[in-house]
Amino acid sequence: MSSPKSLLIRQARLILPNGELMIGDVLTQGGQIVEVSSEIAATTPTQEIDAQGLTLLPGVIDPQVHFREPGLEHKEDLFTASCACAKGGVTSFLEMPNTRPLTTSQLALDDKLQRAANKCLVNYGFFIGATADNLTELLSARPTPGIKIFMGSMHGQLLIDQEDLLERIFAQGSRLIAVHAEDQERINQRRQEFAGIHDPAVHSQIQDHQAALNATQLALKLSKKYQRRLHILHMSTAQEAELLREDKPSWVTAEVTPQHLLLNTSAYQTIGTLAQMNPPLRSPHDNEVLWQALRDGVIDFIATDHAPHTLEEKGQTYPNTPSGMPGVETALPLMLTAAMDGK
Ligand code: DOR
Repeated sequence: MSSPKSLLIRQARLILPNGELMIGDVLTQGGQIVEVSSEIAATTPTQEIDAQGLTLLPGVIDPQVHFREPGLEHKEDLFTASCACAKGGVTSFLEMPNTRPLTTSQLALDDKLQRAANKCLVNYGFFIGATADNLTELLSARPTPGIKIFMGSMHGQLLIDQEDLLERIFAQGSRLIAVHAEDQERINQRRQEFAGIHDPAVHSQIQDHQAALNATQLALKLSKKYQRRLHILHMSTAQEAELLREDKPSWVTAEVTPQHLLLNTSAYQTIGTLAQMNPPLRSPHDNEVLWQALRDGVIDFIATDHAPHTLEEKGQTYPNTPSGMPGVETALPLMLTAAMDGK
């Protein structure tokens, strides 16, 4: 039997389990870490990487991405998306069901898994999307990390904005439910109030703090009623973070995106509709509170919500422009560096 391949990564910036930084060498064999030390003597035969000036991190798991295959490959496909993951240090991703066709059945899930097996450079998983009439599939589909519910910010079949429909899903089965928490009724009302305004900055006023808070409160209420495993996707407001800080059941988790930590509504002035996403960007105060909630463990982890559109699509006039922030996978190292520098 041949000996497992050795890899020696030299003089990287390492973050130790106790949170301290150290410059040192890491030796792996057969893909497993066997030694970490300030200097390791090379054994034969060893591939070496000079990592001076670089930070070495474990492979990142990105628990929320919107890739575009099948059906929207003019924006991205599973090969290019997984290349972006690898480039950004993401070794596993969990993907959302708003592709074409929607991932709302075992058939559509199997199709995605088959495509991914043929094309993906990194590990993958695919959520099954809730509709008003696919409860049987939600209970039986596999393998899947869980059920995705769009409580708002979605058109057509994937939108579940009625409490009785939501309750039916929360009440049955036990698998994780991940929610896009925005109150569609409030969004609809405010869209009328702000009709005719083409400045994309109005997006944050239409889909406002209250819309996010209302939906998060409702999801929490249902999760508590049925003790149902709930994950709150891309939490964006200080109010939601404060709500969770006061009362977060042990079976509830929440995430925040790099863009909601690092950008705020001032970005509309510089990048216009490229800053348009759902839930929208908020204020610098929200940035601060979200950072603190992440540091304190009130928010459990970071997800990218990577959601590409073409520049042509983004170049139309608001509100005809699609929401979504591309390129977050490849920008992750910048984000992590910012986080380590305490920004
Ligand atoms: O901004 C967003 N874009 N938020 C979502 O939840 C969906 C995504 C997309 O798929 O474009």
